[in-house]
Amino acid sequence: MPARAPADVVVAGGGLVGLAVAWRAAQHGLRVTVVDDAPGSGASHAAAGMLAPVAEAAYGEESLLELAHASLARYPSFVAEVERASGLSVGLRTAGTLLVGFDEDDLRALFALHDFHRELGLAADRLTASACRRREPALTPRLRGGVLVRDDHSVDPRALSAALLTACRSAGVELLPSRVEGLVVEDGRAMGVRLCDGDLRAPAVVLALGAWSGRLPGLPPGTVPVRPVKGQILRLRGEPLLSGTVRGMVHGRAAYLVPQADGRLVVGATTDELGFDGRVTAGAVHDLLHDAAEIVPGVSELELVETLARWRPGTPDNAPLLGASALPGLVLATGHHRNGVLLAPVTADLVAELLATGQASPLLQRFSPQRFQSIDAQREVTAP
Ligand code: GLY
Repeated sequence: MPARAPADVVVAGGGLVGLAVAWRAAQHGLRVTVVDDAPGSGASHAAAGMLAPVAEAAYGEESLLELAHASLARYPSFVAEVERASGLSVGLRTAGTLLVGFDEDDLRALFALHDFHRELGLAADRLTASACRRREPALTPRLRGGVLVRDDHSVDPRALSAALLTACRSAGVELLPSRVEGLVVEDGRAMGVRLCDGDLRAPAVVLALGAWSGRLPGLPPGTVPVRPVKGQILRLRGEPLLSGTVRGMVHGRAAYLVPQADGRLVVGATTDELGFDGRVTAGAVHDLLHDAAEIVPGVSELELVETLARWRPGTPDNAPLLGASALPGLVLATGHHRNGVLLAPVTADLVAELLATGQASPLLQRFSPQRFQSIDAQREVTAP
């Protein structure tokens, strides 16, 4: 194996989260190597790019909101900095998000969600059907009403990946196009990652492998409780139909339509606990197109240019795993489930601060990867 420059930090995984962490860590003066044979090709490639803490707020996931808002607040400056560093646009769109419903049941579910938003102090306004259509004239006249979330925005995740790759290179991050085949563990400590042509050693390893994070050979059992949550998603092309994101309940089924700067419309997404099943099914494509066309009839005229399946990294509480794991030397930046794009800036800031200073901020501590481990299991993993 040719000699490589020594790194302070090896980041396993070059998706949006891994790249953002690497970039911030390099800005702290750390020598960083990112290992990925196809950066940005996992969940970051499929994601619609919604920055939607309110619209995505789910019952039982309230703990995520503070983190999500902290990240959304960082987005404008994060985007400005990435765009400046890379010279590339990342397609930030700040037209808000409109949630719409079709029948009495959809509307009841939507307004119950709106009551939940208000209980949590989140800003969202009910709109009549005609007010919804004044905002988005392409919406079907059959809709019954909606809720506007002015501060939920979107970005183009593919453009953001490309810009972060360039920003990483300019900041001196080494990008190694290899597959991470395992974790190197010696004397109860992570010492680097295993590649096909040898080990890449570093005092700190950041695990940012998304849905694959829990499966890395060498991990002590139970250290990274991440499971794949399959999502199928479509991309359409044609006449621009929407100014901002629209999310709809169509007879009880949720769908979203996200316009992007390149003129495409992203339509998503299914959510299935099917492991690493990578098939795009006729049923999913049918349902997504059907629901999108119910919400915006003009969708039927668009060209279907892409269908794909990827996996969200789910955790037991669907909040991310951030910071020191039970294995010394191993830091996690994974488990972002539905919110990887939104949470990339705050993840990067908090994890890079930990890597550079050894300090875990209170917010980072709330998402400690060790929150699921019993005392016995922690003793077992950390035993010398
Ligand atoms: N954040 C959108 C999704 O997970 O489908």
